[in-house]
Amino acid sequence: VYLRAWQDFDHHTLILTEAPEPGLAHIGWRVATREDALDLERKVEDAGLATRWIEGSEITGHGDALRFFTPGGLPFEVYWEVSPVDPPEEMRSLMPSHPSRRTHYGAAPRRVDHVTFAVDDVVLEQRFLTDVCGIRHNYYSQTGDERWGSWMSCNNLSHEIALIRGATNGHGMLHHVAYYADSVEDVLRCADLLVDHGYGLEWGPGKHGTSGATFLYFREPSGNRVEVWTGGLLIFAPDWKAIEWGGDVQPLGNSYWSTPMPDSFVEGTSLPRDLAVAP
Ligand SMILES: [Fe+2]
Repeated sequence: VYLRAWQDFDHHTLILTEAPEPGLAHIGWRVATREDALDLERKVEDAGLATRWIEGSEITGHGDALRFFTPGGLPFEVYWEVSPVDPPEEMRSLMPSHPSRRTHYGAAPRRVDHVTFAVDDVVLEQRFLTDVCGIRHNYYSQTGDERWGSWMSCNNLSHEIALIRGATNGHGMLHHVAYYADSVEDVLRCADLLVDHGYGLEWGPGKHGTSGATFLYFREPSGNRVEVWTGGLLIFAPDWKAIEWGGDVQPLGNSYWSTPMPDSFVEGTSLPRDLAVAP
């Protein structure tokens, strides 16, 4: 099943496939051109990691793609060609600049926002993502000398990808997928919908000090963690330097309103499905 939020401009932002247990097949990143993918292939191989190519098709929903596992074991895919969004007539927006109408059922988040992973060594993984993949390091959370988390993006979002420390034995785990809602009211409405329909909440509604966003975390039926959130800082400075959240202020980075973080939150929820080729 191919899913997209109503203002996602890509053909899909999430693919669900049937499997005996929850797992992460891959996380896909789009680059501008084939040359960018070839350039990344060289950099990843220079870093000592294996790469392979898969052929584009209707099943993948995009053109040819480079695949590799990051040092922390995250299954990455990089592609450049995508099919345009072509919604059925009843879903088309009157506004040519909108990929489809606003939906009016369920939580109806606007767009995909970010993905977060649990990895053994946040510093090692962040350096790979920044130095090899070119993803800007925006801020990090530190307990004493130990990096607890790092948040990164290629665009002006506070993060497109984040890492938090977890024991994964080299096989980085999916921690959560986040979708963006337009307002705090929409996040609260999502909380009501979940509880009304018997799903419960894992953490929140609350506020992260780091991004300043209002969050809500819950699990979908197979156990993966999903976040619906809104707000959050945007980055426009071309010379942005990563900001440290450490010392006394560190706990406020996770929970600015003292909404206690449950112990379960440090757990990743899905291992990469294809561990056979992972480092
Ligand atoms: Fe998040």
